[in-house]
Amino acid sequence: MSESYRQLLDATVQHLEGLKARGVRHVVVAPETLRALTLPPTAGKSPNSYSKPQIQSAIVPPKIEPAISMPPKKPAAPTSVVLPKAAIPNLKIEIISSSPEKAAAFTALRERALACVKCPHLAASRTTVVFGVGNIDAQLMFVGEAPGADEDEQGEPFVGRAGQLLTKIILATGLSRADVYIANILKCRPDTPGQSAGNRPPTPEERATCIPYLQEQIDLIKPKAIVALGATAVDGLLGKAPGITKLRGQWQTYRGIPLMPTYHPAYLLRNQAMTEKRKVWEDILKVMEKLEMPITEKQRNFFLKT
Ligand code: URA
Repeated sequence: MSESYRQLLDATVQHLEGLKARGVRHVVVAPETLRALTLPPTAGKSPNSYSKPQIQSAIVPPKIEPAISMPPKKPAAPTSVVLPKAAIPNLKIEIISSSPEKAAAFTALRERALACVKCPHLAASRTTVVFGVGNIDAQLMFVGEAPGADEDEQGEPFVGRAGQLLTKIILATGLSRADVYIANILKCRPDTPGQSAGNRPPTPEERATCIPYLQEQIDLIKPKAIVALGATAVDGLLGKAPGITKLRGQWQTYRGIPLMPTYHPAYLLRNQAMTEKRKVWEDILKVMEKLEMPITEKQRNFFLKT
C-alpha cells in the first residue's frame, strides 16, 4: 500500500471515529468521496454472469492493494473501498456508488423513513428506525419480518442471533453482507407493551403502513432476485400466500422481480434438523443459479448426508 493511500485511509478512519464519538451511527459516502479512496473497477466479466458488486463496507475484511495514483477514467462505474474492519465498530458505513440520482433518491427515502411517525405507538417505543443495510446496487436482496431488540438497538437489520445465521448463509454463497441489501417488511420494532422483552409479528395495519418504504427501496435497488425470509415477509410481499411451507423453494414474482420464499433463519435456530437447513440451502442454491453465480461441488453438497 502506498504511503499516500495509507495516510488517506488513516485520515478517513480518524474522521469516522470522530463522527462516532459524536453519536453518529450511520454515514453515507458520496460517490466523489468514494472515488478518492478507490481502486479501479475490475474489467472483463461476461455481461450475463453474476458480477460480484465491487462495493464493500467496513464489515469486509481488508484486502487492500494499492493505490490511488490515477483516478479511474470512467468513475461512474462501481468501485471498491475497504476500510479496516475493527477500526470503527458500531458505525455503519454505507457506500453509495451508483448514479448520483439513485444515491440521492435513496438518501431522501432513508430520511423520510427515519422521521416516520405514521405508527405513533412504534415511533414512541423504538430506539431507531431500522431502514436497511447493504449495497444499493445489489443484485440480491433479503427481506425479513421486522427488527428485534438487537436491531432496534443497533439500527441495522439482522444483527441478532437470527441475523448472525443469515450472515453465515450469505457468506456461504461467497458474498458478504456488503454485497447484498437487507431490509424488513417493518422498519420499526413491533412494540411489546407489558412485556420487557420478546418479539411479536407486525399487525396487518403496521405492515400496510410501512410497506411503501420497502417497495420504494426495491424499486430503486432493482435487485435481480429477492429472498423473502419467513411467512411474514412472504405474506407481506405477495399478499395472502398459501403458506411458507408450501411456497418455499418455488419462484414467485414481486414487482417483476423473481422472489424466492424460504424459511426465516429464526426458524432454523428453533429447529436444528439438518433436513430444514438443507431446504433453506437448496432455496439459496436456486437463487445462486438464477444469478449465475459460480457454485462449487462443496457448496452443492452442504447439509447432505455423506
Ligand atoms: N428478524 C427479522 O425478520 N428481521 C430482523 O432484522 C431481525 C430478525
